[in-house]
Amino acid sequence: IPLERIRNFSIIAHVDHGKSTLADRLLEFTGAIKKTSGQNQVLDKLQVEKERGITVKAQSASLIYIYQGEQYLLNLIDTPGHVDFSNEVSRSLSACQGVILLVDANDGVQAQTVANFYLAFGNDLLIIPVLNKIDLKNADPERVCGQLKTLFDIDPKDVLKISAKQGIGIECVLDAIIERLPPPNAVRGGKFRALVFDSWYDKYRGALSLMYIKDGEVRIGDSVASCHTKKTYEVRGLSVLRPNEESVDKLVAGQIGLVGCNMRSSQESCIGDTLHKTHEEVEPLQGFKPARPMVFAGIYPMDQSQHVHLRGAIDKLVLNDSAVTVNIDSSPALGQGWRLGFLGLLHLEVFSQRLVQEYGADPILTAPSVTYKVILKPTKKIIEDKNDTLFVNNPALFPDHLQIKECHEPMVSGTIITPDSYLGSIISLCMERRGVQKSATNIDNERVMLVYDLPLSEVVLDFHDTLKTISSGYASFDYEDMGYQFSSLVKMNILLNGTAVDELSVIMHSSRVQTMGRKLVLKLRDIIPRQMVQIAIQATVNGKVIARETLKAYRKDVTAKLYGGDVTRRMKLLAQQAAGKKKMRMVANISLPRETFIDVLKK
Ligand code: GTP
Repeated sequence: IPLERIRNFSIIAHVDHGKSTLADRLLEFTGAIKKTSGQNQVLDKLQVEKERGITVKAQSASLIYIYQGEQYLLNLIDTPGHVDFSNEVSRSLSACQGVILLVDANDGVQAQTVANFYLAFGNDLLIIPVLNKIDLKNADPERVCGQLKTLFDIDPKDVLKISAKQGIGIECVLDAIIERLPPPNAVRGGKFRALVFDSWYDKYRGALSLMYIKDGEVRIGDSVASCHTKKTYEVRGLSVLRPNEESVDKLVAGQIGLVGCNMRSSQESCIGDTLHKTHEEVEPLQGFKPARPMVFAGIYPMDQSQHVHLRGAIDKLVLNDSAVTVNIDSSPALGQGWRLGFLGLLHLEVFSQRLVQEYGADPILTAPSVTYKVILKPTKKIIEDKNDTLFVNNPALFPDHLQIKECHEPMVSGTIITPDSYLGSIISLCMERRGVQKSATNIDNERVMLVYDLPLSEVVLDFHDTLKTISSGYASFDYEDMGYQFSSLVKMNILLNGTAVDELSVIMHSSRVQTMGRKLVLKLRDIIPRQMVQIAIQATVNGKVIARETLKAYRKDVTAKLYGGDVTRRMKLLAQQAAGKKKMRMVANISLPRETFIDVLKK
């Protein structure tokens, strides 16, 4: 198929606006799959997708469509919908010339619609606005067209109206792709260059890379090299996805295809990398930017006997997800474990869910934290190695306040779209989370878009959940990375009878010290089991005591409630109590059960 008859495009949409359903309809309409009689989400059901669990990574399909008697090749590039993966979204988008901006005709424009629009716009892509779900009783296409006009200056005349579920307007979408989008600006004759925009791990073939062939062609047996790692490989397999894999012996410029060349892990197949022929010099297609983890959490086996199993499960998952970083971590209370880095909270959730579901691992996950930047005061040693900046994501490693010159924390720009009746409580929430309002725009006469600068640390824990709760589920939220900003941060230590317990320390903004200090000591007083000795619980910052509580001495007699009665039951309970004690950590003669550390981390 000549280049003029190729179109590469993506569908971008807010969660649940019908992206998968539309993708399925496009596949059906072009005959790539049989009618599924209302059963949707074929793309999600593909083998690779099954192995990878959920649609967080891009998945493409090549479709043949006959338009005015001519065959066209349409490459649908599926993008992850969430901005945690915005790096991956923009990689996928760089293989396209245009996007379908899909908006629910009932819900209207939501936070991810805005974020995705700007990603596409920033990549100079053509945008085909499409309203979905026009079959719904409450659909209000006029109002949503108005929102698109206000926010993005989209002409209502250009907006297509469809129902993916009922298959209404699908042909218009396909025609618009051909009529409105340009063919790829690829070069057929040139030196081979391909952009890797997705990769996954196959047990038998190693890492597979999904790539967009920008220039030239590649055949089985060719020797190719990576611009990023400089490693060379022999091409073992080439295929296109229709949507099932079909082997081919060559791929030419303009196409999207899968290459297998015996890479041992997906770490070798980097998203954003450029592949070229080994003996040819080429300019990389884009500056390679590695995914940067933003959210960190410690992960520990429930019990040390599960350590090997958990490590195996993490290794396997990481093979498939090169964006996760893994570092060994250990704590006297929780034992040997790892500190994992994720692109965002959703990424963390998906990962831990998969650990449980696919590998039967039952780990303890500590509260997520962000990476703070700490600039140290000059000392003789620092002047020698000039290394005065520390990146700290584990409170236990936060330096002493006397050594610190200044601290910076990661910030995000958050977009919230809400019906105006919830505006008041949402603004209070943002203020409580140290947010700074950047703009408030009416997108129609009932809905408002708010843009806030927020510290990432205030967003990672429960911001999204709280926002949903206070808006009865109507507000949507999305955020993007904004880099570091100066901040007044301190480390709060928790002392038990005068001894600091590292696992309980927290990094926080100085404005939080009083309230958090009180909260923490009260919580600890409630969750630490009473002991033979009295325990003083203190929260300190920079050596000063902020809050203090005392836990009275008491021996918990688990059998107290059993009046005489059954001796065996009594023995069993005492044995359980003894076993429970073994799992405790001794701190200054106080034994703390593991649960103390986990419960205190929960907000
Ligand atoms: P994520 O994969 O979670 O991002 O969602 P998605 O955007 O892929 O949405 P999906 O296709 O899973 O559709 C979400 C829901 O909307 C499903 O329950 C669909 O059946 C429904 N839906 C999709 N299109 C239509 C439509 O045209 N009309 C109606 N009434 N419902 C639709």
